[in-house]
Amino acid sequence: MTTAAATDLRTEILELKEKRNAVILAHNYQIPEIQDIADYVGDSLGLAFRAQETDADVIAFCGVHFMAETAKIINPEKTVILPDANAGCSLEESCQPEDLAAFLEENREKNYYVVTYINSSAAVKALSDVICTSGNAIRIVEEAPKDRPILFAPDQNLGAWVTQQTGREMEYWNGNCYLHVEFTRESIQGIKDQYPDAVVVAHPECTTAVRLLADEVCSTEKMVDFCRDTPAKNIIVVTEAGMLHRLQKEAPEKNLIPGPTDHCACADCRFMKLNTLEKLHSALENLKPEVTLDPEMREKAKAPIMRMLELSK
Ligand code: 13P
Ligand code: SF4
Repeated sequence: MTTAAATDLRTEILELKEKRNAVILAHNYQIPEIQDIADYVGDSLGLAFRAQETDADVIAFCGVHFMAETAKIINPEKTVILPDANAGCSLEESCQPEDLAAFLEENREKNYYVVTYINSSAAVKALSDVICTSGNAIRIVEEAPKDRPILFAPDQNLGAWVTQQTGREMEYWNGNCYLHVEFTRESIQGIKDQYPDAVVVAHPECTTAVRLLADEVCSTEKMVDFCRDTPAKNIIVVTEAGMLHRLQKEAPEKNLIPGPTDHCACADCRFMKLNTLEKLHSALENLKPEVTLDPEMREKAKAPIMRMLELSK
């Protein structure tokens, strides 16, 4: 696209935003062009709070489906659109509601307290006691009843990190992020060897072997604070590549180095990267793809999300 065409597209998106009384929310992993046009860019927790606060009629959610779905659960009266309806998530896929329901039924006598990562479908949230994000998982687990066993779904890596941080034993669902498990001990050690004075910040969806090489493990939003505050100039960022655009804007004086996988110099989430400016334009023009939910399920999914938001204030 020529620069002039890109400018026209941006202008049209901003006009459509006005016309629709829309707000554009974008996750830290979105392409730079989307981050730059958004009203707010942040992590799953920040985006959930923004979705709760907004008085716009339309929420244009530039992220993946579960994030837009969460915005709809909190705001049933608003129109929630996302640029590409196929923007899913491997963690969401790894925990099907029928499987979780069957597991809970088979283990009824255990009376699990189900803590579910926000990277899950509304139907799975509806089976949960409380939702968490990577930004508040430690707090949420610390607040869980002490007399009930915890089932942590669906990210076993995030779960293992939370156990390590809190000392709370949990059972983990067998799920993971297809992208974050591609960072390996070898790939991260290799880049550390190239930049011996660099610090490493990693997302908790990474495996334990990778997290052990990190100076800091945190949600994408907390990475912003870490990069601003660390005295180090060189920072290896072990998460999805879109994060570097946000970090470079927030900490322009730092040298940010994308964490490589074994086969790639930087890691793009194939779901997050489905969204484009053209698709955002079309979504605002046509109010489609729109997120819709069965009202009964939406109500069931809302309670554990609201519990999370209350606990995170
Ligand atoms: P954050 O909530 O830390 O932004 O993580 C979301 C996600 O999908 C990570 O892969
Ligand atoms: Fe899901 Fe992983 Fe993509 Fe995050 S990076 S949206 S966890 S597939």
